[in-house]
Amino acid sequence: MIELIIDTDPGADDAVALLLAMASPEALRLHAITTVAGNVPVTTTSRNARLVRQWAGCEQIPVYAGAATPLRRAPVYATDVHGDQGMPGVAIEEPRAPLAGGDAVQYLVDTLLAAAPASITLALLGPQTNLALALARAPGIRRGIKQVVAMAGAHFNGGNITPVAEFNLFADPHAAEAVLASGVPLTYLPLDLTHTLLALPERLARLAALGNQAGARVEAIIRHYAQHDIARYGMAGGPVHDATVIAYLLAPELFSGRDLYLQVDAREGMGFGQSVADYHGVLGQPANVHWVERGDAEGFFELLAARLRRLA
Ligand code: RIB
Ligand code: CA
Repeated sequence: MIELIIDTDPGADDAVALLLAMASPEALRLHAITTVAGNVPVTTTSRNARLVRQWAGCEQIPVYAGAATPLRRAPVYATDVHGDQGMPGVAIEEPRAPLAGGDAVQYLVDTLLAAAPASITLALLGPQTNLALALARAPGIRRGIKQVVAMAGAHFNGGNITPVAEFNLFADPHAAEAVLASGVPLTYLPLDLTHTLLALPERLARLAALGNQAGARVEAIIRHYAQHDIARYGMAGGPVHDATVIAYLLAPELFSGRDLYLQVDAREGMGFGQSVADYHGVLGQPANVHWVERGDAEGFFELLAARLRRLA
């Protein structure tokens, strides 16, 4: 059993990741969802996290709202990709269950300080602001962290918000630097991976054919949000970036990667938000991340379909 906290900025692909996680309670004990500004403002990411929780029938899982702005840079959003409401293609309504009291950063501090050593897994699906703030407020939280698995970065693939930067890092590179510097056990699932696990039309059709609301919603969300990347990059289908993080936790055998030394560039300029991966170890620096670079696309979508089938 993986003791899990998901930090997220739903966000179309975040919504798919959340549904996949909440459909897998035999493997993932989801203690809480913490939200952050990213794809859309934190008020919207928090509303969306509550709504997806309702879709999954998991309103007992608390949602804590987190940082409204990055550590230092001005906020940047991705409404051109995810729409103003952050989840395209589906009906948006005010969720029944409210936010949990208190903010996400204090929840992370309190929970991780109280946790048994190396017991909690953190899945970071958006800008890493909340964890960076928690580490600054209470560096001792590191003790309770088993691993941090983040959708972040790009190397050979190039960026998706600038020619070199992936959005989660671009949106708060200072936070990513702080998380890297903390020394927590860290895994990155970069665009190099997520751009090879694409929601091809026949894979989307399988989701729609599940015959339940979960399949219909996920198919519609992906189909709508993927139009941006398909048009810009000429892809054969949309990437479901954040769901790969949850799939990695559920079925690591579907993935492979390497340990490497990574830096995130937080200097103003063309390289702002770029992840520089020392792929061949030429710098002789000790590895600081596990860089997941390959995945079984069919296996990923079969897992996603099988788990979504469990939901209403
Ligand atoms: O670059 C892709 C990442 O940025 C995903 O997490 C997506 O949801 C956006 O947050
Ligand atoms: Ca995200």
